[in-house]
Parts: sequence; structure tokens; C-alpha cells
Amino acid sequence: MKKVLVIHGPNLNLLGEREPGIYGTDSFDNINNEIMQNAKERGFYCEIFQSNHEGAIIDKLHEARKVFDGIVINAGAYTHYSYAIRDAISAIKIPVVEVHLSDIHSREGFRSQSVIKDVCIAQISGYGKKSYFLGLDELKAVFEKGD
Ligand code: DQA
Repeated sequence: MKKVLVIHGPNLNLLGEREPGIYGTDSFDNINNEIMQNAKERGFYCEIFQSNHEGAIIDKLHEARKVFDGIVINAGAYTHYSYAIRDAISAIKIPVVEVHLSDIHSREGFRSQSVIKDVCIAQISGYGKKSYFLGLDELKAVFEKGD
């Protein structure tokens, strides 16, 4: 059974409360339940991690490299400027998919740049919570290619 890790970066713990016009009204817990359900349907073992701290996300990426087969990450605002998270993704050999609830390309200019894009296997943006499920699909496709 393939093992996948879903990482949520800063402020995503406030989903449901946080700017619902942009991020939707589903609570963080509900979204996580749906992620777990979607992972199960795809035959994955899944764990979910959230942190508001850059170093904690980096530590988790390092730890995951020997435990998980793939990662879906919504790095939140770190997406736009964290070269440290970019380097951590680049350092590990498992596939990582970048996801965003909102369409980062149709918002403020600073959001359209992702410094992690080039070290991820795909970028999925703008599908609300479905972005996470599509991220799981990307991993599934990669796993099937490798089998
Ligand atoms: C986000 C988009 C980022 O620009 C923002 O800083 C977030 C959430 C998204 O899921 O749409 O925190 O990653």
C-alpha cells in the first residue's frame, strides 16, 4: 500500500473561518476528513500534517523521505518565497505535488510566483478542496507508471 503525506502550511488550520469568499466555508477538519476519504478510495495510507512554521515543515519533509511514497503540499504563503522549503523538496527523492485552494494566478501579483513549482511534479491551483484530491490523483498516476 502506497503511503502519502498531505502537508498544510501556515494559516490553513483556519480554513472555514479564514476569508471564506476565497477559501470556502468547509472547516479544516471537514477538508481533512475528505482528504482521508479520497486517499482511501485511491488505495493509499494517508497522514496529514499542518504547521505554521517553516522549520517544522522542512523537518517533516526530511522525515517523510524515508517513510512516505509521495507528498501533496499546500505550502500557503511560503509557496511564494521559501527557498528553504524549495531546497527541502529538492533534496528528497519522493514525488511532491504542489496544491492551492485558490487560483494563485488570478490574485495579487506576488501570489502568481511559486518558488517550489520547479521542484514539484505538478502544480494544481484553483479547485478549492478538490485541488488536494487532484493532487492525490497525480501521485497515483506516478505510482502506476512506476509499478
Ligand atoms: C494558498 C494560496 C496562498 O497564496 C496563500 O498564502 C495561502 C493559501 C491556497 O491554498 O490558495 O495561504 O496556498
